[in-house]
Amino acid sequence: MEKILITGGAGFIGSHVVRLFVNKYPNYQIFNLDSLTYAGNLANLTDIEKASNYTFVKGDITDANFLTQLFTEHNFKGVIHLAAESHVDRSILNPLEFVMTNVIGTVNLLNAAKTAWKNDLENPLFYHVSTDEVYGSLHNPEDFFLETTPYDPQSPYSASKASSDHFVRAYHNTYKLRVVISNCSNNYGPNQFPEKLIPLFIHNIQKNKPLPVYGKGENVRDWLYVIDHARAIDMVFHGGKNGETYNIGGFNEWKNLDLVQLLCKIMDKKLGRTEGESEKLITYVTDRAGHDLRYAIDASKIMNELGWKPSLQFEEGLEKTIDWYLNNTAWLDNVTSGDYQKYYETQYAQR
Ligand code: NAD
Ligand code: TYD
Repeated sequence: MEKILITGGAGFIGSHVVRLFVNKYPNYQIFNLDSLTYAGNLANLTDIEKASNYTFVKGDITDANFLTQLFTEHNFKGVIHLAAESHVDRSILNPLEFVMTNVIGTVNLLNAAKTAWKNDLENPLFYHVSTDEVYGSLHNPEDFFLETTPYDPQSPYSASKASSDHFVRAYHNTYKLRVVISNCSNNYGPNQFPEKLIPLFIHNIQKNKPLPVYGKGENVRDWLYVIDHARAIDMVFHGGKNGETYNIGGFNEWKNLDLVQLLCKIMDKKLGRTEGESEKLITYVTDRAGHDLRYAIDASKIMNELGWKPSLQFEEGLEKTIDWYLNNTAWLDNVTSGDYQKYYETQYAQR
């Protein structure tokens, strides 16, 4: 059985990638390495946690010695690296934490892989899952991010992800490590921590709490259903060319205010409220510092070269997401109360 290491697999996107790989590839032994920060939640993976080809490892990518030991113990044939600090607002409050995990943690992983694979650098694959935010902010409505767009990160989060992308390319160029990188737009879907726009607003609408729209709500994001991202990661891992970058996006741009209004409309229906009731919760608040105006991905390369395309229309994906949150109130209550952080102690630690 080939051993594949997925980092950050207890988080939002990582948990969908782990599930896809565990279910689709019985010939792989999937190792999920996660330090279980506030964003890591093993309850995201209860359906596969007992699968014979799944192993959870609690560990921190900022710990270089631990990674060296892990790579010595297991002959990994590939790494899919998702572990990161991922929320822009948190990066504004604490940039150094983003440097530690996203930059130092990534370099630690690269070093561990380079050392373990030194006699076989052409074969195992180091895949870095990154963001379109490294390209900066678009101001001309006709522009899209291409793989060739120069990096121009504007937030501490995107600066840390840009830096980690650069290190991955540097290890490819300097040490001939086999690498691929993908840069994806905003994801949404089940299991997203309710600090990001869509899950936070679903939660607040349900609880009749204010919906804090930053500035005038004019910023634009390109939204992709998380399972479509996981499918793309599968395709890039298996078909991506050594040293290449793939942009992943939904061709699905929404101005924040339009998205929030659509969300309110669907929630009114689902909750049996009169139309317009949830919209009254919209509250305009001080804009995010350095708020990027627009992100938009041109995903032609992955579509043409690897045959990927999004499977869901946005309204359909949004309905599925809302239904998931409304049907999984225990998941949301555990996250908001902090009880989810006890899951590892009660279910794993004494095994
Ligand atoms: P997330 O915050 O939900 O999950 C991150 C996971 O990494 C958590 O399980 C956390 O416990 C783990 N982690 C954090 N620090 C760690 C450390 N030091 N050691 C080990 N594990 C650690 O993030 P997400 O939204 O699932 O994003 C996953 C990846 O995809 C990130 O690299 C992010 O930059 C990238 N990405 C996210 C989006 C998005 O819209 N969410 C879009 C494009 C790219
Ligand atoms: P977010 O989900 O934090 O993703 P990102 O900043 O990585 O794009 O935010 C999506 C958009 O929604 C972004 O333009 C900021 C805005 N936003 C709000 O207006 N209010 C909020 O409470 C949050 C979390 C985000």
